[in-house]
Amino acid sequence: MEMAVDKAAAYAQLEKSLEALLDGESDPIAGAANMAALLYWSLPELNWAGFYLLDASSGDLLVGPFQGKPACVRIPVGKGVCGTAAARRATVIVRDVHEFPGHIACDSASNSEVVVPILAGDRLVGVLDLDSPVRNRFDEVDARGLEALVRVFLKRCRV
Ligand code: SME
Repeated sequence: MEMAVDKAAAYAQLEKSLEALLDGESDPIAGAANMAALLYWSLPELNWAGFYLLDASSGDLLVGPFQGKPACVRIPVGKGVCGTAAARRATVIVRDVHEFPGHIACDSASNSEVVVPILAGDRLVGVLDLDSPVRNRFDEVDARGLEALVRVFLKRCRV
């Protein structure tokens, strides 16, 4: 319980850092790049943090700004964890990726994952994806904290 409170407080602090980082520049790629770096270097036990952005011409998710090892370029909506969160338009927490049917393994070190959809009103912009080498790394506190950070991104950046 105490850990959850600490973690929620850490996300509240991260939200302030992100507000400051995105202040004064509304370009979405610049914002996404710095947000990925902020998350990757602030949150413990991650091996990938970044964005997949909806490519309007194909309807697929395309890899966007991230930190971590090179990743799969294109993910159809509905496929993998990212595509599932995009299709459901809801955050997906996967406690063990090896038990998620259709999980797309970009880095064999990944064992758990959380994906938050990015929605501008009804329009799908993309997803925010975090991977961890630790099983069961992400919980509801992470999900709510990351959703709040995505809201900051949507408020600050011209998507
Ligand atoms: N594992 C994701 C693919 C993206 S990588 O983790 C960076 C998925 O199943 O959608």
